[in-house]
Amino acid sequence: MKTYVWTLPTRIFHWMLVLFVALAFLTSEEERLLDYHAAFGYGVSALLLFRFVWGVMGPYYSRFCDWSLSRKELVGFIRSLPYPKKYYTGHNPAASLVMAGILLTALLLVLSGMLTYGIQEGKGLFAWLNTPLFKTMEYFQEVHEFFFVLLILLITAHLGGVTMDYLQHRESGTLRSIFSGYKQLTAEPAHLTIIQKTVAWVFLSFALAAPVLLIYDTTPLTQSRYSAVNYEAEHPLFVEECASCHTLYPPHLLPKRTWKKIMTTLSDHFGDDASLDEADRVSIEKYLLANSAEHSTKEAAYYIARSLEEKKNDIIAISKSPYWVQKHASVNKSLFDSPKVKSRANCKACHQKFENGMIEDSLIAVPEGA
Ligand code: HEC
Ligand code: HEC
Repeated sequence: MKTYVWTLPTRIFHWMLVLFVALAFLTSEEERLLDYHAAFGYGVSALLLFRFVWGVMGPYYSRFCDWSLSRKELVGFIRSLPYPKKYYTGHNPAASLVMAGILLTALLLVLSGMLTYGIQEGKGLFAWLNTPLFKTMEYFQEVHEFFFVLLILLITAHLGGVTMDYLQHRESGTLRSIFSGYKQLTAEPAHLTIIQKTVAWVFLSFALAAPVLLIYDTTPLTQSRYSAVNYEAEHPLFVEECASCHTLYPPHLLPKRTWKKIMTTLSDHFGDDASLDEADRVSIEKYLLANSAEHSTKEAAYYIARSLEEKKNDIIAISKSPYWVQKHASVNKSLFDSPKVKSRANCKACHQKFENGMIEDSLIAVPEGA
């Protein structure tokens, strides 16, 4: 006899979770894909929200109260391995534990992701925590990465369990049940009430729509707290004098000490003479110091300044700072000499709105054909 164990919403949830976690993982490696990463992360959050509701009011086998989470059952089950005496129609005690672990870890993963996005990038729901907590940004990213590793371990355990079950109880068709919903055994079947069906479709449509909307539109979930700065309006002389030979370098990208050094050695400025008359020099220096990295809560400002601090030698170029070098290690070296870029110092060639002080991950666009 076959029995309906996993209803359609449970199965759709399972495969959407697989898809969104995979997409979030694939978009986590490149900075410029950060907003996509966040969008899939929000998608995972919406799915988890559904799953917690489903765990309370869902059908038989999907409800948390039907999982075998008691310690006694778990110990008994593990002792009986590799030939369990009792067969569980839904999740066995070990599987219940792994499922609970996956849901909880995924929840902490998305939560730490949202916190990192807010604190480090100044974006999303927790952007307001950027100012008070930016000095801890690294810590939040590490916590986020820790939960990711934990999730991978749990997924591995899940796949291991499925494999073991497949080898031992092939006839019950557990593996096939996550596609078809049916297991080959005799038990009470799961079924859905109208209310459960309605709740499921509302939540799952919302989970599907979340990443799609976020990728195509800016909402408070991906909005940045930073806006473009008009340096021309703030300090015309700075733009006139310091963007004539090269990209305008936003003041927040270097610490006070470095700006001071640059502004007191202008007669020999990277091999050029960039001298100014004293009144202009003082005015620009004052503006740079008042808006230096020390006054910024932006990711780039914080890390560049810190990496220069660690390296006590006298680097004055942003593009020579250890943080810059590390961040651009993955960029093809020949790009910097290509006709469209010409120099590492030509930041605006790859960072849109660079001269407005915006160094957002989503604004990185390496010139095509360069
Ligand atoms: C006469 C031309 C000239 C003027 C004017 C000038 N610079 Fe430069 N600057 C250069 C050159 C050349 C480099 C080296 C660029 C390279 O490596 O490709 C440079 C590099 C820099 C860098 C380091 C960029 C990097 O690689 O990270 C900073 C910062 C900088 N300039 C700031 C300023 C400031 C501030 C002013 C205005 C007071 C200014 N510059 C005016 C010619 C100039
Ligand atoms: C040839 C293109 C190119 C040039 C020129 C370039 N960058 Fe980048 N930059 C990139 C790419 C691509 C990344 C993302 C690397 C990754 O995905 O890890 C990046 C990443 C960064 C980051 C880290 C990401 C972030 O949002 O905080 C900072 C900061 C940065 N660049 C600053 C600069 C500055 C300052 C300059 C000029 C001195 C510069 N870049 C010049 C291509 C470039």
